[in-house]
Amino acid sequence: MEDQKKVMLSGIQPSGELTLGSYLGAIRNWAERADQFDCYYFMADMHTITVRQNPAELRRRTVSQLAAYIACGLDPEKNTLFIQSHVPAHAQLGWVLNCYTMYGELTRMTQFKAKSAQHAENINAGLFDYPVLMAADILIYQPDYVPVGDDQKQHVELCRDIAERFNGIYGPVFKVPEPYIPKVGARIMSLSSPEDKMSKSDHDPNGCVYLLEDPAVMAKKFKRAVTDSETSVRFDPVNKPGISNLMQIYACATGRTYDEIEKEFDGMGYGAFKTAVGDATIEMCRPIREETERLLKDKAYLEQVYTAGAEKASYIANKTLRKVYKKVGFVPR
Ligand code: TYM
Repeated sequence: MEDQKKVMLSGIQPSGELTLGSYLGAIRNWAERADQFDCYYFMADMHTITVRQNPAELRRRTVSQLAAYIACGLDPEKNTLFIQSHVPAHAQLGWVLNCYTMYGELTRMTQFKAKSAQHAENINAGLFDYPVLMAADILIYQPDYVPVGDDQKQHVELCRDIAERFNGIYGPVFKVPEPYIPKVGARIMSLSSPEDKMSKSDHDPNGCVYLLEDPAVMAKKFKRAVTDSETSVRFDPVNKPGISNLMQIYACATGRTYDEIEKEFDGMGYGAFKTAVGDATIEMCRPIREETERLLKDKAYLEQVYTAGAEKASYIANKTLRKVYKKVGFVPR
């Protein structure tokens, strides 16, 4: 039975604390599907160094992210949880795939354009090549689905193109995966500039809500959220991006539809609505924060989880890598 399960895979960069966006756009979806799929989730530490990091902080965030994954409902007995740099086959396949990816394709990646504008002093080759490593992360586990937020869709599409190109030359080596994007929560916007995506690299600390943040700080951010000059709670992302974003968050936190939310807050004004969204988010995050804090006290357990995860992941990854090496003509060792 186990062998027939579909495979799901995804990762998050430990480049900052986990955000409400990463949770609603990605992790929540992962946890909901853990029983149906054979799942691989990792901390994308190799991607993180495309931007300069403080080494001690990167180590701390990587382990803290693992604790948060488990606290979000990813049972290490049912999901393979690991650290990307512990499985060298990702980088090895990445090199091969570099030779099947076009320069022009990489120049079209919107995240590369945005990040090179943000880090103009350090537009390194890794930043440019990042989507190829991501394609290797994915293809090496032969997944059916890649659950990500809307902003990663372009990278998954490039991954599909690379897989199809490679398969076109050598036969069916890679499964061509589908992005798996939630209907609600795929693009959570900044609370302070709702035209922009909520992001861990947001310059305004009030724009980004962190999953493990103190509830009082979270409440304050929601109270200060930028809205518009009307008073009606109505879903209209073009004309009312702030309110629509808060509705999206509230819908995720409570399971209510936009119609239900409009009725619930009819005639109540923005103040009450913002407080309700803040309260619902705090309650959604509370058990995750408490469980993460508890898990972080047990470093030996976390180490055991990522060690076992790397072993299982390496086994599958090396199988794909051997096949690829053979196809391209490398002499087996
Ligand atoms: P990253 O670390 O930027 O984001 C992690 C996940 O969270 C989603 N996300 C959001 N979803 C909704 N609203 C937002 N504001 C928001 N911000 C982030 C992202 O879409 C993503 O799913 N390149 C990836 C990491 C990665 C990866 C992979 C993912 C590396 N290798 C292989 C899947 C498969 C990244 O930087 O995500």
